Amino acid sequence: MVASGREVRLVRHADGALEPDHFAIVEAPIRDPADGEVLVRNRWTSVDPGLRLRMRETGPAGYFEGFALDAPLDGILTVGEVLESRADGFRPGDTVWHAAGWREYATVRAGVPALNGLGTLAVLDTAVAPPPAYLGALGGMGLTAYAGLVHAAELTEGDVVWVSAAAGAVGSLAVQLARALGCRVVASVGSAEKVEHVLRDLRADAAFSHRDRPLAESLRAAAPDGIDVYFDNVGGEHLEAALNALRPGGRVALCGAIADYDRARPASGPSNLFQATANGLTLRGFRGSAYVDELPAVQRRIANWIDEGSVRPFETVRDGLESAPEALIDLLAGRTVGKTLVRIDATESGA
Ligand SMILES: NC(=O)c1ccc[n+]([C@@H]2O[C@H](COP(=O)([O-])OP(=O)(O)OC[C@H]3O[C@@H](n4cnc5c(N)ncnc54)[C@H](OP(=O)(O)O)[C@@H]3O)[C@@H](O)[C@H]2O)c1
Repeated sequence: MVASGREVRLVRHADGALEPDHFAIVEAPIRDPADGEVLVRNRWTSVDPGLRLRMRETGPAGYFEGFALDAPLDGILTVGEVLESRADGFRPGDTVWHAAGWREYATVRAGVPALNGLGTLAVLDTAVAPPPAYLGALGGMGLTAYAGLVHAAELTEGDVVWVSAAAGAVGSLAVQLARALGCRVVASVGSAEKVEHVLRDLRADAAFSHRDRPLAESLRAAAPDGIDVYFDNVGGEHLEAALNALRPGGRVALCGAIADYDRARPASGPSNLFQATANGLTLRGFRGSAYVDELPAVQRRIANWIDEGSVRPFETVRDGLESAPEALIDLLAGRTVGKTLVRIDATESGA
């Protein structure tokens, strides 16, 4: 039995840049598990750009529900250890994932769908990979990168692929998966250090910083004959530059539009959508979670690539539950690399 634990709450909606005082850390009572429930001690919790959309007063229609004020933040993927189980198939000591994140303990009902199936309580195989990998390459990030390339963009060997936000969680996997699938990859990022990282560690074929020069110029230098696929994590001006660079029959996987998430009002969209008509382009939005049935197969494929050394997962780890809000603020500002995670108990870091 655990009497209480800390949780992060949203105390006011964000309209414009997210600030630490949008949040409070609260000590709350922990409910003992009833029949069909488990009590989990959370160890790792995910920090995702999409959380920012759910902190608006009114989030995008069709997306995950917005967060209630002054309440635990439901619907954030988390990995932890079962302390007590009253549910079939779960035993104390099991490593599980579920969607009751940004808190130290959670009482979770088995079999209740969460995050479109990507956050439904499930036991993880820690013989395959360490627990935090399931928040990154072996979880929704890997599935999103794979589904975006293979399904949304219908990737073909030999394609020239541009990946934006290429040093991040999804982008770093999209770069490496596209390379593993036989494509030439152009990566864009937000700093010289990240350019070096994507060339050296992710083995992108070309890279540039979106802060250096107009995007069109950088893209022309990196891909003089144009691109076949754009994996869009950013939207806005990035998408506009891609539409001008895509060759006839080109495809865009619309993964996200982070350029707009932390603004009070969206920036103007691409002004050149006619390029899609002129060149027979396909722009397809997608959610990784729509492909949850493929997760076991995609996990096996990515785990094999990791074993062979053709895919390297990267993480930014922040310590202590209280660091979660700042970690999200830093992610939105481009101050993290790879999958951004919070190790909930700072004393476990060995520091
Ligand atoms: N469709 C899906 O199912 C799905 C699932 C997960 C994530 N997503 C989307 O995928 C995208 C990446 O998510 P992630 O979790 O992998 O985050 P991430 O890439 O780890 O972090 C976000 C990165 O976006 C870049 N960024 C922020 N503002 C920018 C701007 N104005 N212009 C250009 N780049 C900017 C920053 O990188 P730089 O320093 O390089 O600028 C930052 O590091 C997001 O749009 C997210 O919503 C979609």
